[in-house]
Amino acid sequence: GLPARVRIHEVGARDGLQNEKGTVPTEVKAEFIRRLADAGLTTIEATSFVHPKWVPQLADAEQLFPLVAGLPVELPVLVPNERGLDRALALGARRVAVFASATESFAKANLNRTVDEALAMFEPVVARAKADGAQVRGYVSMCFGDPWEGQVPIAQVVRVCRALMDLGCDELSLGDTIGVATPGHVLELLASLNEQRVPTSALGVHFHDTYGQALANTLAALQHGVTTVDASAGGLGGCPYAKSATGNLATEDLVWMLRGLGIDTGVDLGRLVATSVWMAGQLGRPSPSRTVRALSHE
Ligand code: HMG
Ligand code: MG
Repeated sequence: GLPARVRIHEVGARDGLQNEKGTVPTEVKAEFIRRLADAGLTTIEATSFVHPKWVPQLADAEQLFPLVAGLPVELPVLVPNERGLDRALALGARRVAVFASATESFAKANLNRTVDEALAMFEPVVARAKADGAQVRGYVSMCFGDPWEGQVPIAQVVRVCRALMDLGCDELSLGDTIGVATPGHVLELLASLNEQRVPTSALGVHFHDTYGQALANTLAALQHGVTTVDASAGGLGGCPYAKSATGNLATEDLVWMLRGLGIDTGVDLGRLVATSVWMAGQLGRPSPSRTVRALSHE
């Protein structure tokens, strides 16, 4: 059966904007997040406290976070290491995310570490965040395929997921960073994780839509019992350190499907579409989301 309710983890302001070529003004980012909250999204990933040279698009995290911190929503932020955690906690962040990789190639490209060195880097981050009462999400990238290594063995993904759970992560997000997954592969991974004592209740899914499979993959995950789905308003997104990564599953496409299935999300689709149309205007190009286009009569 399908869940009665799905929690959307909105990543447009982070995953979406980290990949923009031009600089988006801090006030535009803040307004984007305010509008997303006004559209009914309750978990809005705001930014990353990473090295500003690695992701210059999010170098304004210190300026942005205080502008939105008063909103009545959860505002998770990415923190790769203790330096990032210090910066996030100093601003009052209550939800942080570390981000691991299932493959060595991407761990090196994205974190300048091996997979195990990255896990070692996260250990004190998770421990200190938990001790501070913050919630911790653990991303796992390249769960289905990797641009350098091709298909990724499931056992390799499960090992990293298990390690993040053992560090104390409250939830995991399974990343299809380059959007190559198909539904059977998703179900196979979810079943393997359950066998290794990673409960479905701790799992979210994070599909990029490169091959147009994100919605089908999401439906498969929902049928397996997953209730947390990452999506990005207007389908913004990508990863500067993974060639061939395109935008995430568009939040509007997700909400349209869930609404049709009678699954509650609390999101006002009209307001969300208006937000993505406004953001597309700021970025100077139309949203790739089919639902945004259909509902805005572009
Ligand atoms: P490094 O060069 O190995 O850093 O980068 P380091 O640990 O050697 O430190 C070098 C200098 O950087 C030091 O300064 C540190 O203090 C400073 P110095 O002592 O030389 O003056 N530094 C920092 N400054 C500010 N904030 C920090 C920080 N950390 C170190 N947090 C590092 C290692 C992890 C920092 C770097 O690789 C990095 O920032 N990577 C982030 C990459 C990134 O953000 N990628 C995108 C997010 S992941 C993603 O999009 C995938 C996802 O969507 C899921 C999916 O789709 O699969 C989540
Ligand atoms: Mg991503």
